Amino acid sequence: MSEGAILTEAVAVPDSADNPDPIPVSPIPAVNVASVPQRSPLRYPGGKTWLIPHIRHWLKGIEPRPKLLVEPFAGGGIVSLTAVMEGLVDRCLMVELDRDVAAFWHAALRHGPELCDMVQDFEPTREAVDALSQHVPETVLEHGFRTLVLNRTRRGGVLAPGASLIRVGEGGKGVASRWYPRTLVRRLSDMAVYAHRIGFCEADGMVMLEGLLGQIDSGCVLFVDPPYTAGGKRAGRRLYAHNEIDHARLFALLAETKADFLMTYDRAPEIEILVHKHRFHAVRVLMTNTHHARIPELVISARQVFHRVSSG
Ligand SMILES: C[S@@+](CC[C@H](N)C(=O)[O-])C[C@H]1O[C@@H](n2cnc3c(N)ncnc32)[C@H](O)[C@@H]1O
Repeated sequence: MSEGAILTEAVAVPDSADNPDPIPVSPIPAVNVASVPQRSPLRYPGGKTWLIPHIRHWLKGIEPRPKLLVEPFAGGGIVSLTAVMEGLVDRCLMVELDRDVAAFWHAALRHGPELCDMVQDFEPTREAVDALSQHVPETVLEHGFRTLVLNRTRRGGVLAPGASLIRVGEGGKGVASRWYPRTLVRRLSDMAVYAHRIGFCEADGMVMLEGLLGQIDSGCVLFVDPPYTAGGKRAGRRLYAHNEIDHARLFALLAETKADFLMTYDRAPEIEILVHKHRFHAVRVLMTNTHHARIPELVISARQVFHRVSSG
């Protein structure tokens, strides 16, 4: 199975005539995520590979081409990497609070060749992974490598406390089933070509946004993908070590900014109220997750980015 095949698929859901939904369906066609280039070396829980066609549509519609994309909750960074590597923006700035994830980005962007060597030399046995997880890293390179190994050997790529190792995995290969050294080296090497255009900052994305918003000019755009914890939802708490977000404050900050933004959320009544309050636009996309559960996601913006082209 390709890595993409385990990811989610976005499909449009028609409204029934007698029960129209106030949030329109996104007109962007369903995407097979296996067909979208996987550029991030991380298997990120809540990763937005499925959103890439929406991201392309959004950024291609902005004239002139944005100079800077800021991603305050970067995680696996698929949106930032794709935007830079496909020439949709000049540069990106990824911001992430998690120390382990931050160490990975520092290592990948500043020590790419050494990280590639470590990936090639590693034998992902259960013992080796256990030993690595107990080792206290002495350098950012060691720390970043440890994050990459744990991310690719734990179930669902979850790094938060309590995450367990892959047991059976793909083809019965256990912890090694998602460790593809050649693919990882290729993604790291591809990224290194663009490293001078990719900024990374270990920081609180909310604090960064508060400081940045007044200074933002029209050449800057924001992609905002916070942990989904509105309305007491637990997914975001289980998946990420950092998950406390003041959602109302985040919406208020975005309502103040002149920067064009795209934000994603799962569909919760609290979020719909905030969308309405700030007169934002939202479209919905139905996700099928790895457990075949259907989860509606919202793609939110200040202006109408995704025009409805048909009713179903
Ligand atoms: C939904 S995930 C982002 C996934 C990402 N868009 C991707 O495609 O991989 C949310 C991320 O926000 C991070 N996070 C949580 N609180 C944060 C904060 N206050 N500042 C910065 N990052 C934060 C989490 O560690 C997690 O990596």
